[in-house]
Amino acid sequence: MNIIQGAVHFVANNKLTFEKGPMPIKPYPSAANQVGHKNKLYPQPSMEEILPKLETPAVKVRIADLLSRYPEPQGALLEVLWVIQEVLGWVPRESIRWASKVCDCSPAHAYGVVTFYTMYKQVPTGRYLLQFCRNICCEQKGASGIIAYTEKALKIKTGETTPDGLFTIVQVECLGACGNAPVMLVNDEFATDVEGGKLTMRDGITLTPERVDKILKWCYDRSEKYEEEPVRDALGGTLVGHKGHPGAPGSSAKPQEMDYAPACPVLGLKAVAEKSGVTLTWKNAPEFTHLVVERADGSSWKKVGEPSVKDKEFIDPTGLAGMAYRMIATSGDRVAKPSTEEKAV
Ligand code: FES
Repeated sequence: MNIIQGAVHFVANNKLTFEKGPMPIKPYPSAANQVGHKNKLYPQPSMEEILPKLETPAVKVRIADLLSRYPEPQGALLEVLWVIQEVLGWVPRESIRWASKVCDCSPAHAYGVVTFYTMYKQVPTGRYLLQFCRNICCEQKGASGIIAYTEKALKIKTGETTPDGLFTIVQVECLGACGNAPVMLVNDEFATDVEGGKLTMRDGITLTPERVDKILKWCYDRSEKYEEEPVRDALGGTLVGHKGHPGAPGSSAKPQEMDYAPACPVLGLKAVAEKSGVTLTWKNAPEFTHLVVERADGSSWKKVGEPSVKDKEFIDPTGLAGMAYRMIATSGDRVAKPSTEEKAV
C-alpha cells in the first residue's frame, strides 16, 4: 500500500509527462554481477574463525530470545541470519551452516533463504553500503545521473568497494520511497539529505549531486569520529524483553500460537424488507461454527434466530423495513466482533 501511495504521490507531485518520447533502453548491471549476489566468489572463513564471534554470551542470549518466540526454531531463521550479519558484517557460508543448526533446518534450506533475499550480504561490503534505487520512479527522476555522479566522486563502479574500504555502491529495485525519488539507502537508513548531523529523508526532498556530496561527507566525518561503525540493532529494537516483534500480535515475548488471529466476523450483510418479513443475506466463511442474528431493540439487541452455518439467507417473519440487524459469528471457541449493522430496506 505504501508503495502505491508513494507512486501516486510521485506522479501527482511531479506533473509527469512523456513528451520526451521513448527513451533508449540501456542495459543495467544485472543483480548477479553486483556485490552480495551469488555468482560472486569470495574467500570464505572457516567455522573455527567465525565461532568465537558467534558463540559469545551476548549473541547466545539474543538467539535464545528469538527462538523462544516461535513454535518451531525454523521460524527464527531470518532473524538469526540478521544477527549473524550484524556480528560478522556479512553472512559467510559456514555461518549459514551454523544458523541451520541453531534453527534446526537443513543447511540447504538456510542457504536458499540467504540467496533469495538480497539484503543478506554474501560477501563483505564497504563500511557504508550505498544502495541506489534504479526502479521506474527513481529512473524517471534522474537516478542514473545520480549513480554516475556518485561513481565518479568515489572513483568506483557499481558493485565495487573503494580501496579504503569505506564505500560500496549497488543498484537495487524499488525501495518503497518513490515519493522522494531518486532515493538511496546508506546501510539500512534512507538518505536524501543530511540535517542536524543526521541522515534524513523528508517529504519531497530528493537526491541531487549536492546532497550526495553532503551524504558522502557525513560518512567520511563519521568514519573519522568512530574507528568502527557503531553496531546498530539490525532487528530494529528486537532485543530481549522488548515488544513489537514484526508479524506477531501484541508482545514479541510470546511465541505465536495456533489461532492467534482474531475470528472473522460476518461480512457483506444485507437486509431486505419483503411481504414475508425481512430477508438477511451474508457471506459465509468456512471457519464459522455458529451464527446468531440480532435485531435492534431500543438501545439493546435481541436474538431473533440462529441460522445454520450452511444457510445462505435468514428470514425474520416479524421484521419490517427500517429495523436494524447485525450478525455474530463464532469460530470454534472464538467469538468474532459483530458484523456491521444493516437497516432493512
Ligand atoms: S522507484 Fe520506488 S523508491 Fe525508487
